[in-house]
Amino acid sequence: MDRRRLVIDTDPGVDDAVAILLAFASPEVEVVALTAVAGNVGLDKTALNARRLADLVTEDVIVAAGCAEPLSEPVTEESVVHGRDGLGDLEWSEPRTPLDPRHATEVIYEAALEGPLTLVAIGPLTNLAVALERHPDLETLVERVVIMGGASFEGNVTPAAEFNIWVDPEAARRVFAASWPITLMPLDLTHQAYLVDEDLAEMRSWSTTVGERCAGMLEPYAAFHDEWYGNRDVIMHDAMCVYELVSPGAISLQGVRLAVEVTGEHARGATFIDRRRVHADSVQRVGVHVDNDIFRRFLLDRLRQLDAP
Ligand code: BDR
Ligand code: CA
Repeated sequence: MDRRRLVIDTDPGVDDAVAILLAFASPEVEVVALTAVAGNVGLDKTALNARRLADLVTEDVIVAAGCAEPLSEPVTEESVVHGRDGLGDLEWSEPRTPLDPRHATEVIYEAALEGPLTLVAIGPLTNLAVALERHPDLETLVERVVIMGGASFEGNVTPAAEFNIWVDPEAARRVFAASWPITLMPLDLTHQAYLVDEDLAEMRSWSTTVGERCAGMLEPYAAFHDEWYGNRDVIMHDAMCVYELVSPGAISLQGVRLAVEVTGEHARGATFIDRRRVHADSVQRVGVHVDNDIFRRFLLDRLRQLDAP
């Protein structure tokens, strides 16, 4: 089987962690690098978290750090949605996986030069935008870009804006304007995919390191969801990008035209997902529907097979 080569650009992030572990558990893809970006927490923490996650599953993946600040307005307050450390504040030992000395943008570009490449972007889009600026041919080299971000109906940071796009709307605008084929997984889709307490209990019952770490990270994330949404369903935003790649067809997609608002008193970071039929054959697509029962079973079955290398 030809394995699809992935670079996962990420700001781990508890749901990023699940997405990354799903990719490592999936024979359909080969993760060549994890590139960290500032987002859920600062870059020093997202890069450290990427190394911690790599330690759980492999001895052979590149981890590199990228941009510490969005293109224009800096984020002044760190989010605590994913805990102070970004992974639910568990104890971790010093990671074995080294930090690659290259900037994330160079790792992405070199991976694209080496062969067919899919970019999975599950944090703010700063690294991708800077990579495009430094290497304009990147948009023609990359086979596909799968992004978690945006919303048609309602944001989660402001009524208009979803977190990943809100952090760096200028970067999102550049990424959306490039010619590479994009599949976007917005909140309208990701809120259909969630784990419940029973799933966390199942993870603990495996008695594996991965099961114990996942349940441990997800527990405070469930508590946050309870406080914010009034129930403990843990939304699996970022895993949707990987699920689409390892189980093609499981998420129904629609051709669209993507735009992002970068100014405005209320609308900065809002995405405009033009679903009119005229865009049916567009290279830009959006995830529309996922069956959560099938997704949960798929995810748990895959993660159960993982344990420390
Ligand atoms: C996105 O924001 C982050 O908190 C999550 O990791 C996900 O990528 C959801 O809005
Ligand atoms: Ca994320």
